[in-house]
Amino acid sequence: MSKALVPTVKESFLSVVREVVYDQATILGRVGELGRRIDSDYRGRDLLVVGILKGAFVFTCDLIRSIPSPVGLDFISVSRYHPGRDQGRVRILKDLQGEIAGRHLLLVEDIIDTGLTVHSLLGLLSRRKPASITVCTLLDRRDLRLVEVPIRYAGFQASAEFLIGYGLDYRDRYRNLPYIASMDLDAERVRISQPDEPVRDSLLVYQAG
Ligand code: PRP
Repeated sequence: MSKALVPTVKESFLSVVREVVYDQATILGRVGELGRRIDSDYRGRDLLVVGILKGAFVFTCDLIRSIPSPVGLDFISVSRYHPGRDQGRVRILKDLQGEIAGRHLLLVEDIIDTGLTVHSLLGLLSRRKPASITVCTLLDRRDLRLVEVPIRYAGFQASAEFLIGYGLDYRDRYRNLPYIASMDLDAERVRISQPDEPVRDSLLVYQAG
């Protein structure tokens, strides 16, 4: 029998983790439920799953593997919205690779807060005449909502605490934590104030300069 690969959690993560909010098993159980619902809702239709980079990449990977029927996959990347500028609209930084006219789109988010990112994307993508667009988010933070967005599939309702892991970041770090945790921002300040460890010779592949 093959040995299961269990991701290890590095010590350096632990100082910034205040509390594990959703562990791996809980996340994967819920993702499995969402996948089965999506499969039964879309069976026999041309479904294109669209992950919104970067945060949703981990969730999207697990979600598509929990949908037994064949689905298409694409990713889109958008600029961060500025609530006071352009009415909070986002710009596309990396567009979808294929045409979406006539296809059923499932937009996948890791978290929805104000709703501005998804609201803006729904406007942009609906102009390309897909057959339908629905929204799936792992975490829904309703308390922070500024615009209403139609969420068909939601994993968990989340509180306003700062969350990292399973794709969620703090300054582009901690996305690789295998669980979702609340973050101790003071511990992060201490961590970044400490000097980097010297690079060990055995790790030295290339050093600039
Ligand atoms: C996060 C998250 C959503 C968005 C949700 O992305 O992944 O895309 O914010 O916020 P909203 O509902 O208030 O619009 P972020 O801009 O942090 O980029 P990232 O996905 O690269 O982490």
